[in-house]
Amino acid sequence: EVNPYTYELVQEIAANLLDKCKAVGAPSVLIICGSGLQHLSKSLTDQVSVDYKDVPHFPVSTVEGHAGEVVFGKIGSTNVMCMRGRFHSYEGYSQFAVTLPVRVAKLMGCETLVVTNAAGGLNPKFQVGDIMLIEDHINWVGNAGMNPLRGPNDPRWGPRFPATGQCYTPEHITAMEEIAQELGIGQVIRKGTYLYTSGPCYETPAEARLFATFADAVGMSTAPEAVVAHHCGMKTVGLTLVTNCVITRRDSAEIPTHEEVLGAADKTAQDMQDLVSKFVARQ
Ligand code: 6GU
Repeated sequence: EVNPYTYELVQEIAANLLDKCKAVGAPSVLIICGSGLQHLSKSLTDQVSVDYKDVPHFPVSTVEGHAGEVVFGKIGSTNVMCMRGRFHSYEGYSQFAVTLPVRVAKLMGCETLVVTNAAGGLNPKFQVGDIMLIEDHINWVGNAGMNPLRGPNDPRWGPRFPATGQCYTPEHITAMEEIAQELGIGQVIRKGTYLYTSGPCYETPAEARLFATFADAVGMSTAPEAVVAHHCGMKTVGLTLVTNCVITRRDSAEIPTHEEVLGAADKTAQDMQDLVSKFVARQ
């Protein structure tokens, strides 16, 4: 299995997008918006939007609640590139397609990735609407062989066997905590480990009990992007919006639904947006 997005091909995409975003200037931060969190892109000034279908070689995202455009603009004086809608493996995309935007952003000049998602809370102390700063992840999918770095390694990206102990930049976690205090939303901030499952099925009750023994939230994204960003030397900050609490009993009357996830994201996305905006403006 070889990553079809070679360094040269990613260079071609980066050059194409650099040309399209000339009016704003090259981005220094990539923001990937999770389910229902696309409001983030609305706060950019000097926007230039490009449909995924107009980006050469780009996959097209298909899921309800996920738009398909890359928005360039500014937050404060920081130039950003914002993915409104990400590619998930449950849509049928390879790990290579899922992580392509990160490498494109790298070659466009981005030094930082801000990656957001909506996820189920496994930690019994978590409540719907909490924001978890991701300290670490479990790449459940990657450990079964579907790692985005699988295949021949091009050293122009990074090393063959990268360490992953600091995928999520510790200084950025501290910065986010400080910003949350300044914004007066410290009470919704949590920290923990995110478990990446391929989806599209939500976890079974047995899986939920297993995952809860070693992670705080479970979702269907983020880990591949964080791995690829770390591999190519980008700093990463990951934010999880807890949109529901996972169900650990087979006799539970509740069932997890995509509507529930999107609804909760709508209600509480403002805190996440404020946090990201303030963080990015300082980069
Ligand atoms: Cl994988 N599980 C649950 N329970 N909720 C979620 C999710 C997963 N992804 C987003 N919300």
